[in-house]
Amino acid sequence: MLIKWKKTSDVKPSEITPKDVFLNRRKFIQAAAIASGASLVPNFVNSSLATTAPGYDGKKFSNVNKSAFGKAEKLTTYEGLTTHNNFYEFGTGKSDPFRNARTLEPSPWSVEITGHAAKTGTFSVEDIIKPHQLEERIYRLRCVEAWSMVIPWVGVPLADVIKRFEPNSKAKYVAFETLVDPKQMPDQERNALPWPYVEGLRMDEAMNPLTILAVGVYGVHMPKQNGAPVRLVVPWKYGFKYIKSIVKISFVEKEPPATWNIQAPSEYGFYSNVNPNVDHPRWSQKKERRITGEGGLSALLTPKIETKFMNGYAEEVAHLYKGMDLNKFF
Ligand code: MTE
Repeated sequence: MLIKWKKTSDVKPSEITPKDVFLNRRKFIQAAAIASGASLVPNFVNSSLATTAPGYDGKKFSNVNKSAFGKAEKLTTYEGLTTHNNFYEFGTGKSDPFRNARTLEPSPWSVEITGHAAKTGTFSVEDIIKPHQLEERIYRLRCVEAWSMVIPWVGVPLADVIKRFEPNSKAKYVAFETLVDPKQMPDQERNALPWPYVEGLRMDEAMNPLTILAVGVYGVHMPKQNGAPVRLVVPWKYGFKYIKSIVKISFVEKEPPATWNIQAPSEYGFYSNVNPNVDHPRWSQKKERRITGEGGLSALLTPKIETKFMNGYAEEVAHLYKGMDLNKFF
């Protein structure tokens, strides 16, 4: 199935670093590293720990429908998107999830559906996400920490999943929870965050066609460190909304709690829409550094690029916030 939506969200080819410029920059960095005697490549990139089996079980999806999303995007490499993660259940360092997530057991996995809906209960991931509906969606992920990636997700529209459970008119929001099990998620023994990690969306945000439940990247089952077996992807919002390893989805009447909003309400709002015009209290949100996954430290020397309003997806989602003061509802 090919979905054709007119949109402004695709990265223009002119935004992509030409290969020769990139290679020259890389050579320059390597030469600089040799000259200074330093290894500028972070250890984990070349480490023997590097992921050998792609995805959580080395399996590929057999048929994934292509969508028209992000055709012109330069993708972050598989290695890039699996070695630089935020998944505090496995540690607070960016390479901790890559090192530590092996204890996660993504299969079998069940998700509880509860709240204001005609159908509720506990379902396997395979019951919730039908293999024939899987699509590839290439989306930008803009982290609140001002880095970004371009990721080829495999997933299904959340709207299709929600409809099957027939939420009623009291279901104004959708709430999500991550697993709590310190045996599988050892850093839950420490309290870097309150557990479970929780997130939420307004029903119209959850039903927007851009919102997906993702079960893979690059055509393979979701790597553990990226939130196996199922996670949320909301590309116009900061990455912390993309809750990982979901075990519960609830249809609720009131705005549900969201982890980073509970943790630091003046810094992280419920909406968390990417917005270069609203700074984080401690840093600007005007620019971002694109992580390509190539070239080790050269990534850190890549010039910053302008962050786009709603991460470049304004045409599809700006209407959801019409009349709202985005300085207040950040
Ligand atoms: N989900 C859970 N359960 N725990 C987390 O710590 N971190 C969030 C989000 N989902 C997080 C989470 C943050 S801050 C970001 S930026 C994204 O996951 C990162 O997703 P990635 O590691 O696949 O790039």
